Amino acid sequence: MCMARQIRPSSQFPNAYWFVLRARVLLGLCSTLLLSGCAGVQSALQPAGRESRELADLFWLMTVGGAIIWLIVMGLLFYALYVPPQSARRASLLVWGGGIAFPVVVLIPLLIYTLPMMPSLRSESGKLRIEIESHLYWWKVTYRLADGTSVVTANELHLPVGQRAELLLSSADVIHSFWVPSLAGKMDMIPGRINRLPLQPEKIGIYRGACAELCGQGHAFMALDIKVDDEATFGAWLRNQQLSANSVATPEEQRGAALFQESGCSACHAIRGTEANGNLGPDLTHVGTRATLAAGLLPNNVGTMAGWIAASQDLKPGNKMPSLAVLHGDDLRALAAYLTALK
Ligand code: CUA
Repeated sequence: MCMARQIRPSSQFPNAYWFVLRARVLLGLCSTLLLSGCAGVQSALQPAGRESRELADLFWLMTVGGAIIWLIVMGLLFYALYVPPQSARRASLLVWGGGIAFPVVVLIPLLIYTLPMMPSLRSESGKLRIEIESHLYWWKVTYRLADGTSVVTANELHLPVGQRAELLLSSADVIHSFWVPSLAGKMDMIPGRINRLPLQPEKIGIYRGACAELCGQGHAFMALDIKVDDEATFGAWLRNQQLSANSVATPEEQRGAALFQESGCSACHAIRGTEANGNLGPDLTHVGTRATLAAGLLPNNVGTMAGWIAASQDLKPGNKMPSLAVLHGDDLRALAAYLTALK
């Protein structure tokens, strides 16, 4: 603002004013675009968990430290270029000091500071144990509860704020990578192996995770919703997930439930409390409670559910669910109504 005010269009410098104005607008646009990438539900620079906060602190330490060291090196470069050659003794001092003593003094404390951040070296185990198994292109989530029972859901992770959780990451097919930037660092999900990721959310909110390893055609559509709640809300959610599916209420939902069996959906999907017990696709017992469909691809409502059933291969090419394009409009709507009512 001040620069634009200082330089007014005048007959002497007609172009200077417009040049400064254009440069300021361009700079403003660029910085807005850059900064907008640093905020939101999927940002490592806006940490909402203990692990992500430690990583963000490390990022800023490395950035500022790296900038200071770069300035020192540039200073030495100019010193070497413009100051007359010194005696051999002072030159060897520079080599010993700058080449050996300085890196040792900087890198050893950095190593001591960063080692405890490695997930495999964290000794505390979480009260809450959650297995996440990646599939092409969705996430199977299993809560292993203290009483020996378990709760299966998909594409959504609920966590209580302030409580330590232990994620056990594995893959059913190819290598995927689990990454929720707002809560923790990235970790690979490798077939035949279980990787452990401790996690402690510190802020209530909704965050977004994504697969961070190119795993195939649908990789870009493999997201995960993470909901961090207070303990009471989380407890209520978990208790509801433990229940079998609610009974059908309307004739349309009844028709949908019958179609679910007749159309072959139950061969791949399970709905606890019904005959459907397939395990190739996501468990749908409480699919109506989820915020999104198809691993974060669509908002969850009757319309998107119907669209997904009819055209899953168009919406997410390469996924394992065939498009059920043969269903008539009414049947499709009944099936979608039944599924979205599974709360
Ligand atoms: Cu799974 Cu990329």
